[in-house]
Amino acid sequence: MTSASAPGKIILFGEHAVVYGRPALAVPVEQVRATATVTAADHPGIRLRSAATGDDLRLATAPLDHPLAAIVRATLGELEITQDPALEITINSQLPMGAGLGSGAAVSLAIVRALAQHLGSPLSAERQSALAFEVEKLHHGTPSGIDNTVIAYGQPVRYVGGQPVERLAVGRPFRLLIADTGIPSSTGQAVAGVRQRWQADPVSYEALFDTIGGLVDQAAEAIAAGQIERIGSLMDANQQALVAMGVSHPRLEQLIAAARDSGAAGAKLSGAGAGGNMIALVDDRTASAVQTGLRQAGALGILSTEVGR
Ligand code: MEV
Repeated sequence: MTSASAPGKIILFGEHAVVYGRPALAVPVEQVRATATVTAADHPGIRLRSAATGDDLRLATAPLDHPLAAIVRATLGELEITQDPALEITINSQLPMGAGLGSGAAVSLAIVRALAQHLGSPLSAERQSALAFEVEKLHHGTPSGIDNTVIAYGQPVRYVGGQPVERLAVGRPFRLLIADTGIPSSTGQAVAGVRQRWQADPVSYEALFDTIGGLVDQAAEAIAAGQIERIGSLMDANQQALVAMGVSHPRLEQLIAAARDSGAAGAKLSGAGAGGNMIALVDDRTASAVQTGLRQAGALGILSTEVGR
């Protein structure tokens, strides 16, 4: 039996604009993980089961575009295995789906890791990420590749599509609360919505992407220099640009306002938006009041994560 897992992720800065070649910053969230377990089976071929989605499939008959089957096929292809081994793969995930925490990419990476390890050929983070990216396209249409990258490398990253991954330097650890609106968000739909609006008004949208790209560069500097207050103001500015881009949601804005009113140094949506999660920058002084403020404003789940610790 072989088990492997992969963490969740949050985007700190630059979501959506990253799909258009601008940089973005993301960090893994180690508290929530997807796990895949591979065991030898007494039936021929591969059976795939996921407690989170209720899936129970045979690889041989699963649709080509089924994400679980696709990542298994991609991994077997990478390992040049042409005959399906007799295996059972079970997936368990602590990551809520449609919440902006990268559940699809985390599940893909847990499967790649467990399967490659079980078959005696562990893969590099770069190869793992490339395989998961193929499946991200099935999940999300035209993803940037940031989710699979930050999860595969398991470290804070500055990401630009098609460029080598850069580690994001963190001068001073900082703490974020991640709060769930409880409104499921589809990354594919949110990305497609931005694409439609960009096609209808490319000049305004290119300007918004440039604004966000500039904020991301300033945020990378502030994070490297440990300038926590500045990180907070940049989060607020990024949120304004996301609102202008049409990817926020009244529930996100309620939680963001509640976080700021109860002492957060900055707050924004994280990931695709239109629901899902928001993040709030806190410290030891403000964390508990912000947590209470978020809860009173109706946040469903609240996680706390320390970036750079
Ligand atoms: C999703 O975590 C981030 C988006 O920018 C989509 C992507 O980059 O693929 C919304």
